[in-house]
Amino acid sequence: MEIQSITLDVLREMQNVLSESAGYTVSIEDEIEYFGPNAAKSWYLIRGADGQILGFIRNFTQNSEWSLAELYIQPNIDNRRQITSSLLNVFKSTTSFPVGHRLRFDISSHDLEVNETLREEGFSEKCQTFLYFERSLNDRSYPLESDLVSLADAKSVAEVLNHLHPVSVDEAQKWIESKTIRGVKCDGEFVAAAQIYESDEALEVNRFATHELFLRRGFAKKLMEQIFVEAAALQKRRVYLKVEDTRLPAISFYKSLGFTESQDKRQTWHSRFY
Ligand SMILES: CC(C)(COP(=O)(O)OP(=O)(O)OC[C@H]1O[C@@H](n2cnc3c(N)ncnc32)[C@H](O)[C@@H]1OP(=O)(O)O)[C@@H](O)C(=O)NCCC(=O)NCCS
Repeated sequence: MEIQSITLDVLREMQNVLSESAGYTVSIEDEIEYFGPNAAKSWYLIRGADGQILGFIRNFTQNSEWSLAELYIQPNIDNRRQITSSLLNVFKSTTSFPVGHRLRFDISSHDLEVNETLREEGFSEKCQTFLYFERSLNDRSYPLESDLVSLADAKSVAEVLNHLHPVSVDEAQKWIESKTIRGVKCDGEFVAAAQIYESDEALEVNRFATHELFLRRGFAKKLMEQIFVEAAALQKRRVYLKVEDTRLPAISFYKSLGFTESQDKRQTWHSRFY
């Protein structure tokens, strides 16, 4: 077995394994775009004797506070624990983060070997389970509502999304500029916000919250229904999202809108604080 840095050329031959890890066909153009200038230092893959890619590890810095890492090991191969451990160790010895920085891995909850190895290697100071919810859309194409992408300022977007996780005004501004924020207003005030991503077949809802002072007034429902309309207009087959299993109001909310959980897509996240 051989560990090697992922370079741009290597990345180009990784579409299959990246798609297996993601659970959908990834766009190699998008992957190349994510490949930052520092990536070659901390993105690694491991090959078997025949050159086959057995697994990989890579991280995406979200902001100064946290990074999201991806670790995937092919199923049904020998020595999965040893391969996981080798990748984690090379990653650990070559990657540094500022003090207090949180590194998070999202791993299929069913992959016991990788989950256990992350624990053994000290990457699980904080663990949690993510449930995966999705809702299929019918074939009808709806007209796109004209106010769908009407936006508030970054400060209001950050304030609403803070109900979920801390969001800075700069981050909110970046998402507004990338046209990934959707929202609902009440009397001119921004009261519910979502951040969405588009893939070939689906829309992913990445962040979703109603302002704390405006709960249980139907604003989240209105926003999600707008997202369904937009997804249908973009010919998407489904809308999906991940939610922490402790967020009971959100789980009730998603179920009330027809989302169902795919238990086989449950993930355990592991966090390490530097
Ligand atoms: C989940 C959340 C977005 C719901 O926002 P909301 O604007 O209060 O929701 P709505 O008023 O549109 O509720 C629609 C339906 O969802 C369900 N629901 C919403 N909140 C609920 C709660 N606390 N308990 C049980 N069911 C709930 C109900 O069926 C509700 O209909 P009803 O009020 O007629 O009974 C909001 O609680 C929130 O921001 N939570 C914190 C952030 C979060 O966890 N986001 C999800 C991240 S993945």
